[in-house]
Amino acid sequence: MKQGAPAGGSGSTDAGQGQVAVHARDLTMDFGGGSLAVDRASFDLEAGRFLTILGPSGSGKTTLLRMIAGFQKPSSGQITVGGHAVDAMPPHRRSVGMVFQRLALFPHMSAAQNVAFPLKMRRFDPRGIPGRVRDFLDLVKLGDYGERRINELSGGQQQRVAIARALVFEPELLLLDEPLAALDRKLREEMQLEFRRIQHELGVTTINVTHDQREALVVSDDIIVMDGGRIQQHARPTELYRAPENPFVAGFLGVSTFADGEATERGLRAGGLELSGLHAGAIATGAPVRGAIRAEQIRINAAPEALAGCDTVLPGRIRDVIFEGERLLYVAALDGLPEVEFRIYHHDPDAFDLYDIGAPVSIGWNARDMKIFKSTA
Ligand SMILES: Nc1ncnc2c1ncn2[C@@H]1O[C@H](COP(=O)(O)OP(=O)(O)O)[C@@H](O)[C@H]1O
Ligand SMILES: [Mg+2]
Repeated sequence: MKQGAPAGGSGSTDAGQGQVAVHARDLTMDFGGGSLAVDRASFDLEAGRFLTILGPSGSGKTTLLRMIAGFQKPSSGQITVGGHAVDAMPPHRRSVGMVFQRLALFPHMSAAQNVAFPLKMRRFDPRGIPGRVRDFLDLVKLGDYGERRINELSGGQQQRVAIARALVFEPELLLLDEPLAALDRKLREEMQLEFRRIQHELGVTTINVTHDQREALVVSDDIIVMDGGRIQQHARPTELYRAPENPFVAGFLGVSTFADGEATERGLRAGGLELSGLHAGAIATGAPVRGAIRAEQIRINAAPEALAGCDTVLPGRIRDVIFEGERLLYVAALDGLPEVEFRIYHHDPDAFDLYDIGAPVSIGWNARDMKIFKSTA
């Protein structure tokens, strides 16, 4: 498990970069009942960056976010936002904007009145309010909709009002808890790009919570993957995808095939077959291991010669061919290892008729693409 902000030179060049905006150390939440909702979570987030907390339902994402917002007092651990301990101020006094799945807009008020609300709460100079409301409605592309009532706006437009309302008082930190989860796929993908655009435009430090791996990869500078209340990995999206640190992360992002066996010098042995792979860290020969390989890193061909460049080439059979539109998903198994169903992408949908179910094929990959982890069970 990696602690703190990921290393690396690329990324945003916003002013304030390098300053730590959020600093969490060993944050733990124990609601009772045996397991910890959040278990010693530690991370730093630099000012101006977009962090996504990604994990399955029940992994502790909302609890972690609520502790950062100051809605939930941690059982133990420390947290600072902008250098200040979070529990020093009541939530409404903190400089934190929030958008949740339930938008909690005022349905009978206009879009502009909703956006003005946090400014009135914070006793902004009333003369400055209309201009600022207009600017933020423009930012979310609702410049012409200020007078519309919330219940006269579409779901996507309501999302935009909620974003404008969360940002209008220029908070230090924007917190998003699955605000897009209830939207249909097309609108959700559009709003993901909008969050990214707005965040880049304002440079506001953002923490987003989602269970949607695609959203995490699309919008984030940094991603924290959670499972069972623990941070599994903290990295940039490309690093997380390319170099998962454990089988959970490998399985949660992308489509992976797993093979259990025992470690050999150059990979693992399973069902009497030698599968080439790359050990993640030092693993003793003979130790129980789990290999993981992504669907786009496996090749199949009727002729083994065609896979001559691969480190492992083994005979197998096609079990299923699934048409997914922009690609095909083959399900195949190696002869001698029937319990492992390899899932293999093929990016030519016209190849649908290439193989019949049951057809013999060769299956190949390169050692660096099969990541081999010590078994934890
Ligand atoms: N107020 C609470 N009281 C008791 N248990 C809770 C409370 N809030 C969350 N939990 C438990 O903590 C765990 C993490 O929940 P949550 O943070 O909501 O996960 P996520 O947002 O990832 O779905 C779950 O097991 C959940 O049941
Ligand atoms: Mg949640």
